[in-house]
Amino acid sequence: MLNKDVMVVAIDGPSASGKSTVSREVALKLKFTYVDSGSLYRGMTWKCIREGVDVKMPEFVIDLMNRMKLEFFAENRVVRFTIDGEDPGQQLRSEPVRECVSDIAAIPEVRHFMVNKLRQMVQFGAIVMEGRDIGSVVFPDSPFKFYLDADPEERARRRHAELIEMEGQGDVEKVLDSLKRRDQKDTTRKTAPLQIPLGAHVINSTSMSIEEVVSLIVKEVSAAGG
Ligand code: CDP
Repeated sequence: MLNKDVMVVAIDGPSASGKSTVSREVALKLKFTYVDSGSLYRGMTWKCIREGVDVKMPEFVIDLMNRMKLEFFAENRVVRFTIDGEDPGQQLRSEPVRECVSDIAAIPEVRHFMVNKLRQMVQFGAIVMEGRDIGSVVFPDSPFKFYLDADPEERARRRHAELIEMEGQGDVEKVLDSLKRRDQKDTTRKTAPLQIPLGAHVINSTSMSIEEVVSLIVKEVSAAGG
């Protein structure tokens, strides 16, 4: 059941716009629970790859989705999940998942399924949820909607730095290409494309620090009684 009184801060934006770091920090400061909606689409992608299901064959993806057991839990105010009892952990950020996730996220039935799951996250109390369609589709009535953006080159630089840290390697040109491909798929898909939600506060973080963005959002939510 949905509880309309639970506060939801919706943070949308393209890849590597700083959403994850900012959303985590905002949740920490406000003492809200953090939800990374992209991790659900990544989880579905991981499961398909693991089970040898072709992500370009929606009927097989949907069949697997309907059979798998997805369970959520909150740990240190971060929502996590298991699929058929397994925690995909860092594999959610692996290259195969990264390259296929936008195909999975474009399947309308998958979106419908995930949007329902995401709406149930209010069971964990006040939340900060980041994604592509949180302010536009999942929680369109939330009074706290933000859209984070940054220039593609700056986003590629940020994602490249992340890859170096995680995998010890990464080619900045390849990263820029991959980001652009994903942006293209996410903004042009028929169901719930990435867009600026109505009434969202747009923040271009190209030349802002994480702290500046976090403090802007926290101030705005706190000023409104959050
Ligand atoms: O970390 P990054 O911003 O690159 O990606 P993410 O937030 O983990 O999302 C991965 C992919 O899932 C996106 O490229 C979208 O295709 C999809 N996604 C979506 O369609 N809707 C959401 N609410 C969140 C993610």
